[in-house]
Amino acid sequence: MPGVKVLLLGGGGREHAIAWKLAQSPRLTKLWAAPGSDAIAAHAECLPLDPLDPAAVAAFIRANAVELVFIGPEGPLAAGVSDAAREAGALVFGPSQSASRLETSKAFAKDFMARRRIPTARSYACATAAEAKAAARKFEGRCAVKADGPAAGKGVIVTGSIDEADLAVDALASTTAGRTLVVEERLEGPELTVMLLADNQGCAVLALSQDHKRLRDGDLGPNTGGMGALAPAPLDTETWRVIEKTVIEPTLKGLIDEGIDYRGALYVGVMLTPDGPKVLEYNARFGDPETQAVLPLLDADLLELAADCAAGKLKPGILPVHPGACVGITLASVGYPEAPITGAELDLSGVSGLDDVLIFHAGTKRTSSGWTAAGGRVLTVVGRGADLAAARARAYAAVERLNVLGLQYRRDIGAKALGRAIA
Ligand code: AMP
Ligand code: GLY
Repeated sequence: MPGVKVLLLGGGGREHAIAWKLAQSPRLTKLWAAPGSDAIAAHAECLPLDPLDPAAVAAFIRANAVELVFIGPEGPLAAGVSDAAREAGALVFGPSQSASRLETSKAFAKDFMARRRIPTARSYACATAAEAKAAARKFEGRCAVKADGPAAGKGVIVTGSIDEADLAVDALASTTAGRTLVVEERLEGPELTVMLLADNQGCAVLALSQDHKRLRDGDLGPNTGGMGALAPAPLDTETWRVIEKTVIEPTLKGLIDEGIDYRGALYVGVMLTPDGPKVLEYNARFGDPETQAVLPLLDADLLELAADCAAGKLKPGILPVHPGACVGITLASVGYPEAPITGAELDLSGVSGLDDVLIFHAGTKRTSSGWTAAGGRVLTVVGRGADLAAARARAYAAVERLNVLGLQYRRDIGAKALGRAIA
């Protein structure tokens, strides 16, 4: 099989895990990352290339005969980079700018779900703060107030009273992402992440996973980009069948019937409510930190899957998963998500080379004396084990061997899975 030259866009923890997995492919002949990171540099040549600049990415593809572009985050999708990269002749793992509105516009996603009769929370798209406050009253203040535009997972405030809802509307309406607000009924239940590769014909499903969105133990505190993940999420077969029939199949059929060119990762955030599974959100990319817990379990060649998906030649079905489980704990700078204080010095020597422990860097810099924290989310420490309990024990044992002064993390990642305690 011929070798492939790959350009990976992004530089966070998810992209570190993607680079790590791509580097294991026997078909990889060259991996570039833009911008990449000091940690990704172990697997890829990092480029001073703006991943949000369609013309610059297209020029690099042409000049270097890049064959596959793997788009990690949503920014390049929203900026039209997937379209420009396709025009430049590369295979692109990442949906078109128009298709990625499934993530980048919550109002677009809600309309799509309504048209395709996909179960989701009742909602109102509101052009003004006054309209949003009126909508919140229809749910007696028990709602989720969402900025319409992309906000890195931080544009959602879940409220329990009319006063809280009014505050949430004022807070989000003042942001650029919040020019339109979506106000929806508040759903209850455990959350499940379904990540798949979709290619206009079918899809290949990765191990199911679960994120931990809230900042603090016990699912308290503000929503974050994600404070930890576990995989595989122990979902019963019957509920999975319901999700396939009511969510996955109508989503794919909807994309195809509506002529939406979708070749890339699709993330479906599902809440398992007492009335059945309902979609909270779509993302047009893989999840962070779910990817860090899911890719180590993938028993297949990610490069080959992404290339097949980009070419519309994906073999549909459930992708093979290694036995066992992974739990990933995200370490974030103190002050995250509002105002992270970066610069903490990180001593990773206690965990380097530990069996069944993987360290994915989200926001770090390498200095002459070691690593320092350079972002809100800093590291995801992943433990692997025979089951979730063993994986969790492994991950926390590794965290305890790190010197993590200046970082915060949850102590209860993987203590429950889909709402049930793990032995
Ligand atoms: P989203 O970006 O729409 O997924 O929202 C981020 C997080 O907010 C979700 O993962 C949930 O934890 C929470 N959330 C969003 N919508 C709702 C809802 N309708 N009811 C309860 N929680 C929600
Ligand atoms: N972990 C949630 C997300 O990637 O959107």
